[in-house]
Parts: sequence; structure tokens; C-alpha cells
Amino acid sequence: MLRIDNLTCGYGSFLAMSDLSLTLRPGTITGLLGANGAGKSSTLMCIAGHVAAKAGQVYFGERDVTGLTPTERVRQGIAISPEGRRLFKDLTVEDNLRVGGLIHPAAEFKRDRDRVIDLFPRLGERITSIAGNLSGGEQQMLAIGRALMARPQLMMIDELSLGLMPKVIDLCYRALLTLRDEGMTILLVEQNTDRVMGVADDICVLESGRRVWSGSAAAARNDPTLSAAFLGLH
Ligand SMILES: Nc1ncnc2c1ncn2[C@@H]1O[C@H](COP(=O)(O)OP(=O)(O)OP(=O)(O)O)[C@@H](O)[C@H]1O
Ligand SMILES: [Mg+2]
Repeated sequence: MLRIDNLTCGYGSFLAMSDLSLTLRPGTITGLLGANGAGKSSTLMCIAGHVAAKAGQVYFGERDVTGLTPTERVRQGIAISPEGRRLFKDLTVEDNLRVGGLIHPAAEFKRDRDRVIDLFPRLGERITSIAGNLSGGEQQMLAIGRALMARPQLMMIDELSLGLMPKVIDLCYRALLTLRDEGMTILLVEQNTDRVMGVADDICVLESGRRVWSGSAAAARNDPTLSAAFLGLH
């Protein structure tokens, strides 16, 4: 599905993520875990094409997408709900969704919008509201919804549950499971490791920009070498 080979990225001479190899299986959720500054967001931004790779490759399906722009990658089926959400705060909910769907014909907007509203009915109730006036949970739903408007095969979500109430987190996680059951592949960055472990099929742990562990979530739960700091299970 997505395969990254020896990927390295950073800012100036600083390497935020080095020599990372990872394969995502189609129709699964992979949790990308690690402490603050471990390189999780940089990894997602490099896969999405917003941060340039200094070395290594990103393959999506059979295609090497390493040299493609972010928009070209969206067209290939790679979408991101970024850290901090980066909504267009002065635009309405509907117009934020419209921006997410710009790669598709305008005539198909309503169908895609309604699909997002089916997943998050609350966005339907708030469709004419200004995004900056939404609650944190509504903004998170909108960030995910905007990414979904591109009809991605791979959905990357950074810090899904950060700052949200448990009820809203439940709702967002239920939506993720629905998307996975429909065949979507999901790469999920979270501080909330218990939540990730509850849904993930696979886990990858980063430390100082390097992969220190990867494997199935079941193996992660049973591996005593994974520290409590990462998994919070002990
Ligand atoms: N735009 C930037 N310019 C310079 N350094 C950056 C930039 N973005 C991130 N970094 C640095 O790269 C390293 C990895 O950051 P990154 O945001 O990828 O980590 P993270 O695992 O997402 O952390 P967090 O859990 O805090 O979100 C950190 O040392 C960070 O300070
Ligand atoms: Mg981050």
C-alpha cells in the first residue's frame, strides 16, 4: 500500500527522522508512537510531501511518489489531517470541505460532502458556521472531513485526540473504524497510546527520529521491552 524505504528528512542540517522504513498494509490502522519531538509529525509531513525527503523513497502502490508535490500526492490518494489541524478559520465548514475536494469536479462536491456528514453528522448541523467558531472536537472532525473530501486511500491523522473530551474522542475513533472497515488505510499519530492500542493493527515506535520498534499491535502489547513511557500499559 504505502512503503517507505530508508526515508530521511529534517530542517536545515538537523535530521528530524532518519533512515525510516515502514510498510502499511491495506485496510489497516497503523499507530505511530513516540515521545515529544520523536519525529512523528515530520514523518507524516514527509510522506505527504510537505517536508522534502533528504534520502530514501516513498512508494504508494507501485508508484515512487518521492518526487511528487503535495497536491500530486493527494491526487494519488494520500491525505493528511495535520498537527494543529490548519483549518481555514475564516471560512465556513462547507467551504473548508470544498477546499478539501478541489481536486474533484465541482459537480461531485455535494455527494462527497454528504458522505462526510454521514460520518460526522455534527458537521451537517454546523455546515454554515465559521470554522474558527467551532469547538475543538468539531474542528477535529472538520480537519478529518476536509482530508476525506479528496477520497483518499491512505489517511494520515496527527494527534487525533489531543485536547478533546472523551466522548468526542470516542466518536472520532468510531469514525476511524468505519473508514478502515470500508477499506481505507490509516496512519495514526497519537500521544494517547491506550487509545491507539485499542484500534491499531500495527504499531511503529520512533525515538529521536529513528524507528526503535515495529510490528503488530498484539506483539506490542506482549513485548516487555517496550517501555511504559511508550505504551502506558504497565
Ligand atoms: N519546522 C521545523 N523547523 C525546525 N525544526 C523542526 C521543525 N519541525 C519540527 N522540528 C524539530 O524536529 C524534531 C521532530 O519534530 P516533530 O514535530 O516531527 O516531532 P513529533 O514526534 O511530532 O513531536 P510532538 O509529539 O511534540 O508533536 C523536533 O526536534 C522538532 O523540534
Ligand atoms: Mg507532532
